[in-house]
Amino acid sequence: MMLTARFGRSRVINRVNAVLIMAMMAAYYSLHLMVLRMEQLERRIDRELLSMNGGENMSPEAQEVEDELSQYSFNFTIDMNNPGKCNSSEEVFLLILVTTSPENHRHRFEIRQTWGNVSSVSGANIRTVFAVGKPKNREAQVALEKENTIHHDIIQGNFVDSYRNLTLKTMLCLKWAMQYCPQARYVMKADDDTFVSIFTLVKHLQELPSDTTDFVTGFVYNSRVPLRDPFFIPKWYVSWKEYPRDSYPKYPSGFGYVLSSDIIVKIYQAALDIRYFFLEDVYIGLCIEKLSISPVHHSGFWPEFVDIPSCRVDWLLASHWVKEPEVMLNHWAKQNTNCSLVSQDNVDDQASE
Ligand SMILES: *[C@@H]1O[C@H](CO)[C@@H](O)[C@H](O)[C@H]1NC(C)=O
Ligand SMILES: *[C@@H]1O[C@H](CO)[C@@H](O)[C@H](O)[C@H]1NC(C)=O
Ligand SMILES: *[C@@H]1O[C@H](CO)[C@@H](O)[C@H](O)[C@H]1NC(C)=O
Ligand SMILES: *[C@@H]1O[C@H](CO)[C@@H](O)[C@H](O)[C@H]1NC(C)=O
Ligand SMILES: *[C@@H]1O[C@H](CO)[C@@H](O)[C@H](O)[C@H]1NC(C)=O
Repeated sequence: MMLTARFGRSRVINRVNAVLIMAMMAAYYSLHLMVLRMEQLERRIDRELLSMNGGENMSPEAQEVEDELSQYSFNFTIDMNNPGKCNSSEEVFLLILVTTSPENHRHRFEIRQTWGNVSSVSGANIRTVFAVGKPKNREAQVALEKENTIHHDIIQGNFVDSYRNLTLKTMLCLKWAMQYCPQARYVMKADDDTFVSIFTLVKHLQELPSDTTDFVTGFVYNSRVPLRDPFFIPKWYVSWKEYPRDSYPKYPSGFGYVLSSDIIVKIYQAALDIRYFFLEDVYIGLCIEKLSISPVHHSGFWPEFVDIPSCRVDWLLASHWVKEPEVMLNHWAKQNTNCSLVSQDNVDDQASE
């Protein structure tokens, strides 16, 4: 074309241009048609899936789940328990409940060696407990029980441990906090792939007014919308039937949030009237919305992976996605071997004198 253009006369160039433009128009038109057709197809599949999962004509399986969910009243029992973990004769400043899967032995092992092994920070007592449901096979249960006889730090509800049952696990945490650790000042819910920057977190909580109540803090999402596309991440797909509102209330991201313990009972009671929803953090958002409590955003709760360069990341309270082996241990080593916050405090004290 370049050659024709360069050597031919202007009439030739014009004809070439006209052909080119027509070809482009045709290509554009057919592409447009294709996109339209794909959109139509997607919408149809969407509709079919919607009706399968939550519409009027539900499949028997979906109906079964529906029936089950509508019966939930957080009526589970705590089958494996360690009531002595939070001794009533001791003051407890922070109770951390880590939601974990029965099979995640390594995650728990690494937490026990790192932030989970800190039982007090500048006079504030901390207790850490792991919460699980029932594994699907017997071997996993045996292994879990064995682990618990060594560490005495696992609590287990008698519901199937599954993603759709996560809210049950959070309610297990709240129930345990109410019944077995009512003296705790603050309660944190963390995932087993969460790095809790325990020294900065406790420091932050200690700096709050001593009469702090009705308090929820974390990385707060505002007006997030449910994922209505069943193909994008099926695990997170939410049908209109399951969640009939356009957007979620304000809620703290589930990887790590802290509550003042006075609202645990209130949340638990509010929950008895709120329909089950499997995204536990959204569910907590629904409960506190009902209690007219607005969660307080703090960007020290970081919902993504944060590489810890040294102990000097004092903005960080908790971060997420610590999944690979050893990463938790490395984070911890970096945060501690060089300078612990305790010695940093001393430096600050001296500086201000
Ligand atoms: C709650 O627990 C009781 C006693 O275990 C049981 O009889 C009842 O059916 C349970 N209710 C629901 C809704 O699961
Ligand atoms: C609670 O702690 C006290 C003192 O440390 C101890 O004597 C008691 O046995 C503990 N109780 C439980 C249930 O662990
Ligand atoms: C926990 O910390 C204590 C010291 O406070 C130490 O002796 C113990 O080995 C640690 N446990 C683990 C599992 O790292
Ligand atoms: C949740 O747990 C209940 C009680 O064990 C069980 O019946 C149900 O099948 C579980 N749901 C899912 C989706 O795993
Ligand atoms: C310790 O941290 C300081 C700054 O906080 C840094 O200059 C030093 O290199 C670190 N040392 C080690 C061994 O990581």
